[in-house]
Amino acid sequence: MAGTDRTILIAYAIATALAALLTLLLFASTRNKRPIDTHKIAEFEKRWLGIVVAILVALLATTIWFTPYGKTTPSDAQVVAVNAQQFAWQLKPATIRVGVPVAFVTRSQDVNHGFGIYKGHKFIAQIQVVPDRNSTLLHTFHETGTYTVLCLEYCGVGHHGMVATFRVTK
Ligand code: CUA
Repeated sequence: MAGTDRTILIAYAIATALAALLTLLLFASTRNKRPIDTHKIAEFEKRWLGIVVAILVALLATTIWFTPYGKTTPSDAQVVAVNAQQFAWQLKPATIRVGVPVAFVTRSQDVNHGFGIYKGHKFIAQIQVVPDRNSTLLHTFHETGTYTVLCLEYCGVGHHGMVATFRVTK
């Protein structure tokens, strides 16, 4: 009972403080009647447009080379066939060599799934898995150990249980 009373009191105090702050802001924002220099604002906006466009073009130019799509599978790649189906993953083979490129050739037997690779809590790579079409994820592992595959696309009641593991060895 005392706890509930205190909670209500705190809620009233917060509401009063917010109302006071709002009144103060309203007062402060409507009191000053300085004329607005529209020419200066237009100049400012034009300069910022230039800066934003320059940043976006720089970002595009530096990151587009890392787009994982359209890359061809290297001839020395290990091929892992990934079969997705509600609610399990099948990886053949489930052991991968470290330092050699891997091509995960994924395909779904039913609905869309998300093939996501994790090492512990660290995200490594992912690709969308669709029915009737292979999608290939290229990745080179530099660390040995056990990796986890999680489904990253909601695919039905058993989605959360769609987990698998594979090993990367020397
Ligand atoms: Cu498969 Cu979520």
